[in-house]
Amino acid sequence: MSLRAQARTVSLGTRLLIGQGLVVLVGIGTILVVTEAVAPGLFHEHMLIAGHENPDVEALHAEEAFRSAITIALFVALAAALVAALAASYYLTRRIGQLVRGVADAASTIAAGDYEARVHPPALGPEFDVLTDSFNQMAGRLADTETTRRQMLGDLAHEMRTPIATVDAYLEGVEDGVTELDPSTLEMLRGQTQRLARLAEDISAVSRIEEHHLELAWEPVQLTELIEQTIIAHEARYATQGVRFATQLDPKLPVVRADRDRLGQVMTNLLDNALRHTPEGEVTIATHADTRRVVVSVADTGEGIPGDALPHVLERFYRVDTARDRQRGGSGVGLTIARGIVQAHGGDLDITSPGSGRGTTVTWWLPRK
Ligand SMILES: Nc1ncnc2c1ncn2[C@@H]1O[C@H](COP(=O)(O)OP(=O)(O)O)[C@@H](O)[C@H]1O
Ligand SMILES: [Mg+2]
Repeated sequence: MSLRAQARTVSLGTRLLIGQGLVVLVGIGTILVVTEAVAPGLFHEHMLIAGHENPDVEALHAEEAFRSAITIALFVALAAALVAALAASYYLTRRIGQLVRGVADAASTIAAGDYEARVHPPALGPEFDVLTDSFNQMAGRLADTETTRRQMLGDLAHEMRTPIATVDAYLEGVEDGVTELDPSTLEMLRGQTQRLARLAEDISAVSRIEEHHLELAWEPVQLTELIEQTIIAHEARYATQGVRFATQLDPKLPVVRADRDRLGQVMTNLLDNALRHTPEGEVTIATHADTRRVVVSVADTGEGIPGDALPHVLERFYRVDTARDRQRGGSGVGLTIARGIVQAHGGDLDITSPGSGRGTTVTWWLPRK
């Protein structure tokens, strides 16, 4: 075994003991040298001053006794100090050993796939608290990522099943000669593959957002301008469906630092949703600013959202009317993505509705800098 390898196998307890033993030995050694060199001389001098002549038998005995007493005291002190060092090393080793074993066990548990493992802070001082805190944070983060991953895979499988089954059924029909491969069948097939493609895009966007990997290109953004551009992009479709746009835009809205494209994506999502759920009526976009925030709202006069569904619409893949909303094109992550984008900017997004048939309002805000 090489020296290095040997050094690696020496336990923490032995190292601590060696360290403390060295300190004790150096201390005792120093005292020994000093007392041997100085104390007898001093004692001898005092004996002379006290009237003992040189070489007086009594004085010699007294000096001899003094020397023995010092030596015995030093050896007793050495023994006591070594025992204390042993006890202290043992205690510290046990405590630190328990902690290290705890961390190692938790790491193995996590490696084996159980992300709930945590380490208790050992009450050994702030350095060790930092270690256990960081470890627990890491474990928590892993647990979150794992939960997201699992749910995402489940959701994804669920979402893929319908379009794949539809395509499969059509293809089987064509093979069996029951269905003709006419333009309408092709359109149907194309529609399903597009849905799968959109799903793939949404999944990658939502996973990036949920794992906080969204990269933002920060720049000064004039929200009023951005909103007006989004309205122009939607005007034709709104007009076709007979839905009017109304605006209440604060003319003094401050410029915010944000990622322009991402905020455009948020507005597009909200205007698409509003149109999809407003068979006829009006969509109002309003903005205002207070001392801390810049607030944007999109309010429609459409279908509204029932109270029991409202808490869930921001969740990934949640749709109020699963079959119908799916048919209308959404995979149910538009709002999740919109909220993720706004939150990545340090703001937040909320959705409210007084109930079915009574319209919906989505409000989002960014911090004012
Ligand atoms: N303006 C709205 N009016 C009524 N319901 C809405 C509105 N916006 C969203 N929703 C409901 O919230 C669900 C989730 O919205 P979203 O995350 O954008 O998914 P998607 O639009 O893909 O269905 C929608 O399926 C719909 O049921
Ligand atoms: Mg949507």
